[in-house]
Amino acid sequence: MQTMRRSLVQWLLIATFFTSRTMSMGSPNRTPRLSPIDQRLRDPNTVLASVSSDHETFFYNQTLDHFNYQPKSYTTFPQRYVINSKWWGGAHTNAPIFAYFGAEGPIDQDINILGFFPENAPRFNALLVYIEHRFYGQSNPVGSMADSVKNKNLRGYFNSAQALADYAEVLQHIKKKLHAHNSPIIVIGGSYGGMLASWFRLKYPHIAFGALASSAPILYFDHLTPEDGYYSVVTNDFKEASENCYTTIRKSWDEIQKVASMPHGLAILSQKFKTCAPLKNSIDLTNYLDSTYASAAQYNAPPKYPTSQICQGIDAASKSTTDILDRVFAGVSAYQQKSCYNMTEQVSQTSIGWRWQSCSEIVMPIGITSKVSMFPSSPYNPQEFIDNCKKIYGVTPRAHWATTYYGGYDIRMVLSKFASNIIFSNGLKDPYSSAGVLEDISDTILAVKTTNGSHCLDILSSRLGDPDWLIKQRQLEVQIIKNWLKKYYLNHIFG
Ligand SMILES: *[C@@H]1O[C@H](CO)[C@@H](O)[C@H](O)[C@H]1NC(C)=O
Ligand SMILES: *[C@@H]1O[C@H](CO)[C@@H](O)[C@H](O)[C@H]1NC(C)=O
Ligand SMILES: *[C@@H]1O[C@H](CO)[C@@H](O)[C@H](O)[C@H]1NC(C)=O
Repeated sequence: MQTMRRSLVQWLLIATFFTSRTMSMGSPNRTPRLSPIDQRLRDPNTVLASVSSDHETFFYNQTLDHFNYQPKSYTTFPQRYVINSKWWGGAHTNAPIFAYFGAEGPIDQDINILGFFPENAPRFNALLVYIEHRFYGQSNPVGSMADSVKNKNLRGYFNSAQALADYAEVLQHIKKKLHAHNSPIIVIGGSYGGMLASWFRLKYPHIAFGALASSAPILYFDHLTPEDGYYSVVTNDFKEASENCYTTIRKSWDEIQKVASMPHGLAILSQKFKTCAPLKNSIDLTNYLDSTYASAAQYNAPPKYPTSQICQGIDAASKSTTDILDRVFAGVSAYQQKSCYNMTEQVSQTSIGWRWQSCSEIVMPIGITSKVSMFPSSPYNPQEFIDNCKKIYGVTPRAHWATTYYGGYDIRMVLSKFASNIIFSNGLKDPYSSAGVLEDISDTILAVKTTNGSHCLDILSSRLGDPDWLIKQRQLEVQIIKNWLKKYYLNHIFG
């Protein structure tokens, strides 16, 4: 999942019926987007495993509504999935199936970055399956995300329970087609996709034998995690990188407001931050900075470690200038060297689709309340959030549905009593790890975490020079899955 970057800006941009831009920074939907990668940081040259050219694309004739029997429920749409059978041991050996669950975006981008699959398929003789999430990419019932979320009737079918049922059907279909009845399935996902993978193991244990849920913030619902969790981690990441950096950024927000309120203040800010277009307000700038810091922390991956890049820029500038804003800009430009900085958020099918999902059931209360935060205070405001969703879609978000349907309260007690075979992996530099499962729950529900890791790092392609802790994390996950499968083959009497 990409960062939930500048979701506030997305709100403002997409929701054209907004009447004012006077909201405080980050108010209604401060949820940074998910996504395993920050596209900006991709460096294909250092990827070890070559992306396989053995992908075959199929479309499954999917049922629009799995949970109803009204005439409309029988509507179908083509759902895309991709298979790579290059390394598969075949149905006759009951070799495993690894299934990747697409999340809030087209499946194509995930296939290319998901190193975990091609790097491990050979040792497991695994069949690789990638399934696109309904409504995204080519799996949209009407061919357009924008059209489908405008359609009151259609968007009602755009939810995670329907998506899990889709995955169940596609996997059953593949098993049948390949006569792979006894092949165990391991499901994998990252971020929102990681939540789906873990939930799928709980809801469909007869289909998935195990799940690897990478950076899945399944505890960000219903205030299971303090709202400040996400931005506390961002703050700590910067503080650890450099105390001066943290202090400089912390002071910069007031400074921005001060300059903005001066005559020609916005022109000064536009010039200082090399904006592509003249700023019309200071919120565009503060949102841009907010999301830059958040995504730097979320995707704080080796070899570059974006938070360190930003802080090195700020620290270096701190030696030559006392101007806080010049220092901050030096940090931004050390991270991303650009001829100009575009403060207008791009509207994508992901931002459009995710906004609907956040306004319906993926309600994650994220705010800023800590007095030592690097960011200005911005408590989560449920009423404002509800009002916005009502304005846009005419619906009230179901803030309690995720915990009702998937659980979350007393997760340790609940899961230890009935569930098994789930890996919750996290990197603790990832702000979303604040809502992840970070302790083992049982012998088979395991938390695999790294102190210096970031969002979904474990499932991305290996790179030359990866640090030992990352290599070890990946090895441990492979070992755990191996153990599950060993038990599966030992205990299973194949008919
Ligand atoms: C999909 O399934 C429906 C219902 O079974 C059927 O009417 C329709 O023709 C199928 N579409 C395709 C493209 O196979
Ligand atoms: C800035 O981004 C917006 C949204 O993606 C785009 O429409 C616009 O052309 C960009 N402007 C520049 C100068 O790159
Ligand atoms: C994490 O990174 C810090 C800073 O580079 C380093 O001092 C520390 O040893 C690392 N911790 C682990 C467990 O690798």
